[in-house]
Amino acid sequence: MQKNPNRRWFEAAAVAVAVMFPLLLVAAAKKGSSASSGSVKKGKALFDQNCSLCHFPNQTTTKIGPGLKGLFKRKTLPISHKPVTVANVRDQILNGSPSAKPMPMPSFKSKLSAKDIADLIAYLKTL
Ligand code: HEC
Repeated sequence: MQKNPNRRWFEAAAVAVAVMFPLLLVAAAKKGSSASSGSVKKGKALFDQNCSLCHFPNQTTTKIGPGLKGLFKRKTLPISHKPVTVANVRDQILNGSPSAKPMPMPSFKSKLSAKDIADLIAYLKTL
């Protein structure tokens, strides 16, 4: 007689765990892919297509523009010496440096979406 209620409780708990666990996994997966955090993988692909022509991702030496290795670990941007913030890097990507010599950096306003730029910045933070 004593066994029965305990066992019921155990079964109920097991069912609850079995139901909750996949729900938690789904919730965790959704959180990881939220748009606001930016995808490093997509950002790398965008960098390779749009930026690597002029910027090294793995060196600080100049290619056509300054090397971007460790960009977000620095205090200031290499050319303008503005503080390294998401807002300033986003501005640089949006506006470029149209008057830089010998070669300007183009504006990416019409080429990259806000999501693209978030992905790019997520990648730049890993350099
Ligand atoms: C056609 C060449 C070219 C391309 C493509 C290019 N850049 Fe640049 N970039 C430059 C040059 C040149 C400078 C230096 C500008 C100057 O001297 O004022 C620069 C400067 C920068 C800086 C430093 C700005 C500062 O204030 O010091 C960052 C960050 C940057 N680029 C990021 C990017 C990213 C991210 C991309 C891709 C979306 C990109 N660039 C694409 C040529 C390029």
